Amino acid sequence: MRHLMTPLDLSVEELDKLMKKAEEIKADPDKYAHACDGKILAALFYEPSTRTRLSFEAAMLHLGGKTIGFADATSSSAAKGESVADTIRVVSCFADIAAMRHFKEGAPMVAAQFSGIPVINAGDGGHQHPTQTLTDLMTIKSSKGKLSSMKIGMCGDLKFGRTVHSLIRALLRYEDISFVFISPDELKLPDYMIEELNARSDVSYKEVTRLEDALPELDVLYMTRVQKERFFNEEDYVRLKDYYILDSRKMELASSDMIVLHPLPRVNEISVEVDKDPRAKYFEQVLNGMYIRMALILMLLGIEV
Ligand code: CP
Repeated sequence: MRHLMTPLDLSVEELDKLMKKAEEIKADPDKYAHACDGKILAALFYEPSTRTRLSFEAAMLHLGGKTIGFADATSSSAAKGESVADTIRVVSCFADIAAMRHFKEGAPMVAAQFSGIPVINAGDGGHQHPTQTLTDLMTIKSSKGKLSSMKIGMCGDLKFGRTVHSLIRALLRYEDISFVFISPDELKLPDYMIEELNARSDVSYKEVTRLEDALPELDVLYMTRVQKERFFNEEDYVRLKDYYILDSRKMELASSDMIVLHPLPRVNEISVEVDKDPRAKYFEQVLNGMYIRMALILMLLGIEV
């Protein structure tokens, strides 16, 4: 039995296989419509979500399976003090696979240790979000035709942004990747991520503050939201929340084939006017998220079609 806690739990070959499978499902969804007949996915969401929870549920439904779960810990026995370990033991009696989002870093890992079914980390605090990374990789690959030899800009909340941390780890496994990290001082990448980057003599990166300075040299711009829920005081959040706003005028500084990704939800960091720019790929990214989760469910359940 396998779990997915971080993108590093999958080899590069497995990542490639998953992306290929997701593209196959996207091209011919009917072929997979009964692949998970009789199977149940439990969506255990202790923290709010729209895309991840609904795309996991839609993924299982499109595979012919069913879903159970909760979207809010207050409606589960977590509100009465039940531990994650006990909850997953119980859920293992009812479901074949579980996706768990939790506000505490490491909670899905604890669940995996006590689980009788595969557990997928659907985002744990400011730590990791591996299925968002699968979505991001699939979208980069389908837009750029490759995952190597690229300069990736990551902008916004790089400190608490679990999608950023997961994506960096995954991209470090491909050749000739360089990064430009764009953030205010208060939201720079955490030291443990910088240490991982410094350990790689073949990877170059720089940290800058102005988005305008980075835009002309990027192949991919990964925008992120300044996350209100990760701040300890409202004053800091208000000061930083609109630090970056990508608009059509700034997009003129970027190359004609740079793509813009965002894990979403967005608040103000991308103006809606950018949505109609063909370089904006963030809604395509959402759709890809469902197909790659379908491929992942099949892989973890060991189902071949
Ligand atoms: N990208 C992402 O994790 O979105 P949700 O918080 O809506 O699931």
